[in-house]
Amino acid sequence: MSFDNFLRKTLLPGVVVIALMVSSCEPSPQKNHQPVQQQSTQQAATPKARSGLKAPPTGTPYALEYFEPTPENPGYGTLMVNDHAFLVPKGVTRPSIQSVYLLSHWEIKPGESVLDIGTGSGVQAIFAAEISDHIVATDISAKSVETAKLNVRRFGLQDKIDVRPPGDLFSPIKPDERFDVILFNIDYPSNQYTQFWWEIHERFFAQVRQHLKPNGRVYYQIGYIDNIPRVKAMADKNDLRIMRLRMDERLIFQRAPIVFLLQSEIDVQEQLRRKEIAYERQIEADKRQTGR
Ligand SMILES: C[S@@+](CC[C@H](N)C(=O)[O-])C[C@H]1O[C@@H](n2cnc3c(N)ncnc32)[C@H](O)[C@@H]1O
Repeated sequence: MSFDNFLRKTLLPGVVVIALMVSSCEPSPQKNHQPVQQQSTQQAATPKARSGLKAPPTGTPYALEYFEPTPENPGYGTLMVNDHAFLVPKGVTRPSIQSVYLLSHWEIKPGESVLDIGTGSGVQAIFAAEISDHIVATDISAKSVETAKLNVRRFGLQDKIDVRPPGDLFSPIKPDERFDVILFNIDYPSNQYTQFWWEIHERFFAQVRQHLKPNGRVYYQIGYIDNIPRVKAMADKNDLRIMRLRMDERLIFQRAPIVFLLQSEIDVQEQLRRKEIAYERQIEADKRQTGR
């Protein structure tokens, strides 16, 4: 049975399902996408972890749907991200629009190692495992770690994803452990009462380069347009360069969400220097060929 049919056949009144399609796009005045938002009253038996499809390539839409706990799984709600079903108990943050926005913007190549900090339900790590075989997931909350482990088991990804014991930021990581890609989507300041989150983001920026491989990169979610200047300042202070900044024009009215791609300034300088050398060599070769 397709998931659509499954939903239609198992719907019961009384529970809210929110479907939200998110697609990536650089801000561009020409495009005029509208978010698809539906609300209905539905309940479904917990779907199996995955119905067999692959994570969509970067930049394609992700669908997000939430199902309240069922009698067969009273402790857990189910969050469907595309065809992936994540079990999420009360007290653990569900994958959100920020999660899927980050998901649809990272690029991971086969063979690359990945660190997912603040993994929550494990959503970033589990999608990353479609590409990478070496993923470490961490979270400060024991309940999140338990939930991530549960979801990793449900997807049969224990060999690829190492969910570490609970710990703050990089504390579950050895000092010399380094990664090609670091994913970071944790809570962020969104109003005057949540400014305390900056302290954690500051510490993340101060420590992240120590855990990046040469030419490694960070995909970082800050969720809110007003946070951009502070992110730029943290990047400058810690010798990181913002290589890309993306937001969804359809969400501009909410001033969210925002994703950054960050790289070490030293690596970027080295890449630029190599390109310059290659360019100069090419000019010399051209001159020799034309005899000028
Ligand atoms: C908003 S949820 C996002 C979960 C997941 N990254 C995603 O994309 O859906 C934030 C997660 O970060 C974790 N967290 C908050 N502060 C943290 C810290 N200092 N170190 C590690 N994880 C942290 C929370 O426990 C929570 O599970």
